[in-house]
Amino acid sequence: MADLRVKIAGVEFKNPVIPASGAFGYGREYERFYPLSKLGGIAVKGTTLHRKDGNPPPRIAETPAGMLNSVGLQNGGLEKFLKFELPNLLTKDTRIIANIAGATAEECAELAARLDTTAVDMLELNISCPNVKQGGAAFGTSCQSAAEVTKRVRAVTSKPLMVKLSPNVTSITEIAAAVEAEGADALSLINTLLGMRIDIRTRRPILKNNVGGLSGPAVFPIAVRMVWQVANAVKIPVVGMGGISTAEDAIEMMMAGASAVQVGAAIFQNPYAPLEIIEGMARWCDENAVALISDITGTVQPW
Ligand SMILES: Cc1cc2nc3c(=O)[nH]c(=O)nc-3n(C[C@H](O)[C@H](O)[C@H](O)COP(=O)(O)O)c2cc1C
Repeated sequence: MADLRVKIAGVEFKNPVIPASGAFGYGREYERFYPLSKLGGIAVKGTTLHRKDGNPPPRIAETPAGMLNSVGLQNGGLEKFLKFELPNLLTKDTRIIANIAGATAEECAELAARLDTTAVDMLELNISCPNVKQGGAAFGTSCQSAAEVTKRVRAVTSKPLMVKLSPNVTSITEIAAAVEAEGADALSLINTLLGMRIDIRTRRPILKNNVGGLSGPAVFPIAVRMVWQVANAVKIPVVGMGGISTAEDAIEMMMAGASAVQVGAAIFQNPYAPLEIIEGMARWCDENAVALISDITGTVQPW
């Protein structure tokens, strides 16, 4: 049986498969399907300082081979996470990645400082959210604001810090390098790609928010390309996601340069997807005489 363990920023995961933030809540709904201890880790729903109700519905739309969402970071806020969700998650014998999102760099730092004293294994800083103080453009769309928010967060936490990059940029490698230079321990990518659908009968956008984030198999080739480019541009580990729905997708993403993978949209279709991916990866390793899954990271041989 292959060894599926991977290490990211000093944290050992029992396997490289992690449900992505926003696709698995806090795990509560999935526990009746399988023990959460089977997962490499859980990236929990984005936490903001204060409770957020998110955007008005409709905020989910199916698209060919994917989905659009404009959930808008609906969550109960930091206090609820600390009091209600985290104590439960910490009993699950899996790695817990706290995903944080702030409207300003100060807010991101406050979230990180509060989580620094908890037992979460890693922080994932979502820089796809709008920076309210700088006109609402996402932190992750300029090197300067991506670097600034990473610096602020780095200064207040000694937890392993993973920064989650936005794909809605011209050069993702420049953003990755800027974030690495400010002390990120790892990078995760990709967040959703900005998209839009219109109902041609009503001539109204399908989402009440007009636009939303595209994810699912439709974005997989873009995610593989970005992970490959970023992994070749930085020295820190990369966690790959975007459209992964099978073990073969996960292996491809690791060959592109990912040390582990996250699974999002696929879970909405099949709650067992993360488990099936773990089992499929183990089988693939055995069939291909791979003893250590970590050995496949970055092994693509470009032409
Ligand atoms: C309904 C939904 C909610 C999401 N919420 C968050 C979130 O709170 N924080 C975050 O960093 N990413 C969030 N994401 C993005 C996913 O974590 C992931 O980066 C993206 O969906 C690409 O992976 P996938 O194609 O496997 O879904 C969300 C995605 C979906 C579909």
